[in-house]
Amino acid sequence: MSAQTQIRRITAPQITARKSAEPIVCLTAYDAPTAAILDEYCDLILVGDSVGMVVHGLTTTVGVTLEMMIMHGQAVMRGSNKALVVVDLPFGYYEDSPERAFHSAARVMRETGCQAVKIESGSYAAETIAYLVERGIPVMSHVGLRPQSMNVLGGFRARGRTQKVAEEIVENAIAAAEAGSFAVVVEGVSAEIADKVTQAVSIPTIGIGASAGCDGQILVTPDMLGLFHRVPKFVKKYANMQDIIHKAVETYANDVKERAFPGEENTYKFSK
Ligand code: KIV
Repeated sequence: MSAQTQIRRITAPQITARKSAEPIVCLTAYDAPTAAILDEYCDLILVGDSVGMVVHGLTTTVGVTLEMMIMHGQAVMRGSNKALVVVDLPFGYYEDSPERAFHSAARVMRETGCQAVKIESGSYAAETIAYLVERGIPVMSHVGLRPQSMNVLGGFRARGRTQKVAEEIVENAIAAAEAGSFAVVVEGVSAEIADKVTQAVSIPTIGIGASAGCDGQILVTPDMLGLFHRVPKFVKKYANMQDIIHKAVETYANDVKERAFPGEENTYKFSK
């Protein structure tokens, strides 16, 4: 790439420097055209393993593969040129050893060009985070409701209803921060727990179903655009894409049936 075409993106250290400063705007993306729109407004775009549920129709994120993440990561990188792009490591590709996590993360970064990965961080994760960061891989952690563990947790319910679990969440975030994460996603917890985490760590907290006091916010983009009728309580719908698409496709179907489409303006005429 020549110096002229070199892309200058927001970096992981720049995100870390935003702790307790201007709120960090984050959303998920899985394709190039959506990434191009988000890039104008977002500091960080996450290629979340939520792709399995909101794009591929899976019921959980457990079935998402590294190859899926790489394909969607490549698309998001092609569509964006300003935001920091973070790609999720999916279930089964990082938990059992730091070495495995390194190979998965290095492959994702090499094949997509993204600048960081995200891992869901239980108590076991600190060693892996330190291992990755020491070897040049910026890591965003994810505590609280960890969707990849939904089979152990018993579903997608908010976390931290007991003192013990609430303390564990704060401890996991502190361990993830001390191990070198550049930011931590805090999902599906009470505002009180989110605020405790935000005060306890020196890195930015990115809330989803957490607290307005977090250092930034993230939502799953198809949820906030209203592509689905049923969304978690914490989602605010900023549009109603499902109704918009229904209306457009219904109108198209009627036009086709009535031969109203294609019209003159959509038809080629070659002059002789
Ligand atoms: O996969 C995802 O989209 C995520 C967000 C919910 C933070 O992890």
